[in-house]
Amino acid sequence: MATNITFHPGSVEPSERAQLLGQKGLTIWLTGLSASGKSTIACALEQHLLQLKLFTYRLDGDNIRFGLNKDLGFSEADRNENIRRIGEVSKLFADACAIVITSFISPYRADRDLARDLHAKAGIPFIEVFVDASLAVVEQRDPKGLYKKARAGEIKEFTGISAPYEAPESPEVHIHTDEQSVEQSVREIVDYLRQSEFV
Ligand code: PPS
Repeated sequence: MATNITFHPGSVEPSERAQLLGQKGLTIWLTGLSASGKSTIACALEQHLLQLKLFTYRLDGDNIRFGLNKDLGFSEADRNENIRRIGEVSKLFADACAIVITSFISPYRADRDLARDLHAKAGIPFIEVFVDASLAVVEQRDPKGLYKKARAGEIKEFTGISAPYEAPESPEVHIHTDEQSVEQSVREIVDYLRQSEFV
């Protein structure tokens, strides 16, 4: 824990930055089981928003674990730290006026709420998107063969099998990927952004 540190405010107000850059930042937080479709929807949404010339940046669970969070595993404490860091990083990008799309399982409600609070304190919109598909469906998809390994006991603490997933209680957007196409899911998120006048 660092001591003797002082916060240095800059001379640019967030509203001035947004006005100069012509865009306000926000975070779109996708949460859901492995293989629920988070990364696929995040990629398609990023494409869509970039085509609209909006400065958009994606943070993905697997990818971030190759770099920034390569010291973390899948224990509860490590997942807490994973999401704490991503909450901070997404807030920084959004503060720089980016539309941030995060795709992390983020299984614990308290961790997602911490990320939400962090954004609220900075006056940055936080849109929680529940990428919902039943365990039966994601287990059948099993694109990486991880559920099979988890059932065989080869992967410990696997979300949905041997580690918990706490579904959001009141997400801003609720997507059902066992019924909706990727395009429909993207449209639903973009519709929400437009209705809320975020884009
Ligand atoms: S978390 O729970 O938010 O910290 O997880 P996240 O950073 O999103 O990483 C999830 C991806 O890691 C792979 N993987 C596992 N997931 C869940 N449980 C265990 N034990 C595990 N081990 C490896 C898996 O590929 C996840 O990717 P997605 O895209 O969700 O399928």
